Order: sequence, then structure tokens, then C-alpha cells
Amino acid sequence: MAERVTIFEMSPRDGLQNEPVQIAAADKIRLVDLLSACGFARIEVTSFVSPKWVPQMADAAEVLAGIARAEGVSYAALTPNLRGFEAARAAGADEVAIFGSASEGFSARNINCSIAESLERFAPVAEAAGAAGIPLRGYVSCVTDCPYDGPTPPGRVAEVAAALIGLGCYEVSLGDTIGAGMPETVAAMLDAVLEAVPASRLAGHYHDTRGRALENIGVSLDRGLRVFDSSVAGLGGCPYAPGAKGNVATEAVVAMLAMRGFETGIDPRRLAAAAAFANTLRSAA
Ligand code: HMG
Ligand code: MG
Repeated sequence: MAERVTIFEMSPRDGLQNEPVQIAAADKIRLVDLLSACGFARIEVTSFVSPKWVPQMADAAEVLAGIARAEGVSYAALTPNLRGFEAARAAGADEVAIFGSASEGFSARNINCSIAESLERFAPVAEAAGAAGIPLRGYVSCVTDCPYDGPTPPGRVAEVAAALIGLGCYEVSLGDTIGAGMPETVAAMLDAVLEAVPASRLAGHYHDTRGRALENIGVSLDRGLRVFDSSVAGLGGCPYAPGAKGNVATEAVVAMLAMRGFETGIDPRRLAAAAAFANTLRSAA
């Protein structure tokens, strides 16, 4: 039987958060519902962050309330602090995620604190998620390059990933936030992280700015990673990562994995329908 690779669909959150024109909650709900029919086990729906920082996600509770929940799908939300966690919990998020950085420059711009302070802020979120029985995921951003600090030392990524696991994250997603990672730098980063965290608890989250994301997934597969984050139609970007393009396109990842003999459980026809709709949500469309 073909080995399974899990795709964590990011488009409603990472895909849309950077769109300059406010997208109607009804359209976000429609996107999530189309994605729910594709066979994903996990979909990141929204984030409970400050609406001043990311206005596009201000309708987080409305979107979570409006989706038609498919059986077997975990609907996830980003929660930077306890306030975000409580709101996500009240809105019925099935899992939540804390998001840190391996570079100080990005941590300061993205969540307004140092890496050490972020881990302190995450601790009560992790505790509350544990007490509520809500699975907690962690992100490390800028795993190879930072738009403010330049190249990221691999050992720093390993430290932050290990700290997130220590807080209780079931999995840590390694983010090439600006899509500047090359197969060589991703390999060096993974080799360092794998000394601290096993592949079974890691995911690859690659943006495709330089068109190397599929190769970076290949390097990650070779090292045993079996979970990847992607967005239909390659939607995305981060408001605090200038120049960052979208996540690698889910359609491309599904096709590449099939060619390499992995099974994803994603229906390509339904995926194409979701991607076509996602494309209509781009402000440039
Ligand atoms: P802060 O200013 O340091 O914190 O922001 P604060 O506690 O002083 O709060 C500031 C204001 O936000 C206050 O409102 C709070 O009430 C409000 P005011 O008094 O000014 O009216 N606030 C909140 N509102 C709603 N929900 C909340 C919340 N918390 C505070 N949970 C904070 C700190 C983290 C809140 C802020 O920096 C923030 O929201 N940042 C979000 C950044 C973000 O969402 N970035 C994109 C996601 S990360 C990403 O894309 C990378 C990833 O894809 C992986 C990769 O690619 O690398 C995950
Ligand atoms: Mg991202």
C-alpha cells in the first residue's frame, strides 16, 4: 500500500490573511466548505489575532460558525495569546496553533515581542489547550531566511522547535516564511532540527517565492517528514514578511506526491474546483 502523506490546507488562513481588500465572510465559508469536500484531514480556517494587525482575519468567529463541518476534518485556528485561545475555543476550533519565529527581527514585527517573550506568552496557551483537550500545533517562522535578519542559523530553528514541543505541541511546522529556502539550506536546517525533534512531529511549510518549494518538500520527504502545509491556487503571503508569495500550491503538491508514489486522499477534481473558486478571491482577479 502506498505510504500516506498528510496535507494541511492553509488557504483560508495563510492564503487570505494578506489580501488587501476585505473578503466577505460568506466567501471564506464557501472556500472552507469546498475544501472540506476534497478529503483534507486538517484545514486552517482563520486566526484569532488583533484585528488592527491583521484586519482580514477580524471575522474569525463568524467564519468558524458558518462552515459546514465535515466528519473527520479538524478545523484549526492560530492563537497568539490566551485571549486568542479563549476566542478560538468559544468559536469551536478543533485545534489551535501558536506561532513563533527562529529570527528576532520577524518575531518583533509579527508578534511584537522577542523569541523568549513569545515562548513565555505561549506557555499559558499551551496549558489552557492541554486542560481543554484541544490539540496544539506550533510554527517556527523564518527557518532558513528572515526578511529582516538575513540567513537563519539552523541551530536556532532546532532550539525554538524543541521549545514548542516542550510546551506540548503535537507537531511543529517549519515555515520558510518568505520562500527563500533552497534545497541545500532546507536540508541543513532539517538536519539540525532532526537532532532535537523526530520527523514524525515535524511538518514542512514552504512558501514558493523562488519556485523551489516542491524541491524543498522533496528534501523533507527524503528526511522522513510526512506532513506538508500548502494552499490551493498557491494563495498567500504574510503581512509582516515583505515580498513573501503564497504557500506552495496544494494542486502541485498533490500531483508531485502522487508521482513519487505517496497517497494523500485528496480528490484532484474537487481540489480543482476549490482552487478555481480560491482564484476568484484574489484581489488581482
Ligand atoms: P501587541 O500589540 O503586542 O499586544 O500585539 P497587546 O496585548 O498590547 O494588544 C494590542 C491590541 O490587540 C489590543 O487592542 C488588544 O486588545 C488586541 P487595543 O487595546 O489596542 O484596542 N488583541 C487582540 N485582539 C483580538 N484577538 C487577540 C488579541 N490580542 C490582543 N488574540 C499580538 C500582540 C500577537 C496580538 C499582535 O502582534 C498580533 O495580533 N499579531 C498577529 C500577527 C499575525 O497574525 N501574523 C500572520 C500569521 S503568522 C504567519 O503567517 C507565519 C506562518 O504562516 C508560518 C510561516 O509562513 O512562517 C504561521
Ligand atoms: Mg506561512
